[in-house]
Amino acid sequence: MISYKELGLVNTRKMFAKAVDGGYAIPAFNFNNMEQLQAIIMAAVETKSPVILQVSKGARNYANQTLLRYMAQGAVEYAKELGCAHPEIVLHLDHGDSFETCKSCIDMGFSSVMIDGSALPYDENVALTRKVVDYAHQYDVTVEGELGVLAGVEDEVAAEESHYTKPEEVIDFVTKTGVDSLAISIGTSHGAYKFTPEQCTVDPVTGRLVPPPLAFDVLEAIEKKLPGFPIVLHGSSSVPQDEVDTINKYGGALKAAVGIPEEQLRKAAKSAVCKINIDSDSRLAMTAAIRKTFAEKPAEFDPRKYLGPARDSMKKLYEHKIINVLGSNNKLEQA
Ligand code: G3H
Ligand code: 13P
Ligand code: ZN
Repeated sequence: MISYKELGLVNTRKMFAKAVDGGYAIPAFNFNNMEQLQAIIMAAVETKSPVILQVSKGARNYANQTLLRYMAQGAVEYAKELGCAHPEIVLHLDHGDSFETCKSCIDMGFSSVMIDGSALPYDENVALTRKVVDYAHQYDVTVEGELGVLAGVEDEVAAEESHYTKPEEVIDFVTKTGVDSLAISIGTSHGAYKFTPEQCTVDPVTGRLVPPPLAFDVLEAIEKKLPGFPIVLHGSSSVPQDEVDTINKYGGALKAAVGIPEEQLRKAAKSAVCKINIDSDSRLAMTAAIRKTFAEKPAEFDPRKYLGPARDSMKKLYEHKIINVLGSNNKLEQA
């Protein structure tokens, strides 16, 4: 058993309480490799922002859970080396799918886990989440639960209100499970194809697809039921169209990729939404930069020559999200 506290990591409790009070959200960025991690830490240090490093099932399969944990431990030291004496870094399991996975992450030094029982019948979601909370809280590890199913094209059935989190269930769920934060569904969705063209309208000036707005009425109803309780938004990439255009210009084939407008995320961050998950935007920034380098410098074969620009581009993206969308810059307890 390794405690995250020995690794210099923190859990989400204090961070979220401050974010809810202060009307901003903590960035939760997924990482799978060194360049992503470096870019996240450089951006967090330069903007003096707390940050959540997320490890998904795909990341654990790709890079190995143990290696990712050591990388996060290294990230704490790296942040200090970059001049941040008191970094606030959470290592979080994204979309944990079983008690065993959550336990294994807690035992090896994660400071926060998500147990995603959202696809289960309500009572099973409650029971599984409660079991994870009981184990995690013994070690002061915080737990994120989820109620509602994220809408979108991956969902087969188009975005419908029936998929949104039901405000009438949230008090019971939070009370019975003891979770520290709750992921909700109000119209966000995972990936770069969040909505079908049929779900969107077309901007008459730019000709771009405009996605349906987030269900702020559902968010407000949830906030009324759980005043001050930390709320989480998954699937919050905005799918920057300049990155999509660059990818397509240099041989890519991303068609009708559309994300959540940043103004809507900014509005959500000012509410009880205190954690916003972003993964796809970083993938797009990385891919665009690599494709551009390959096209412009076809003789280059040193990976540092294309992963370096990709890292720079991701760092710029993370800084932009922190400062202009989430508002978590300058929010470290101690500089
Ligand atoms: O929520 C999903 C994340 O974007 C991670 O996706 O399993 O492909 O790493 P992944
Ligand atoms: P995006 O695919 O919108 O980046 O969402 C990531 C996410 O929710 C990770 O849990
Ligand atoms: Zn997610």
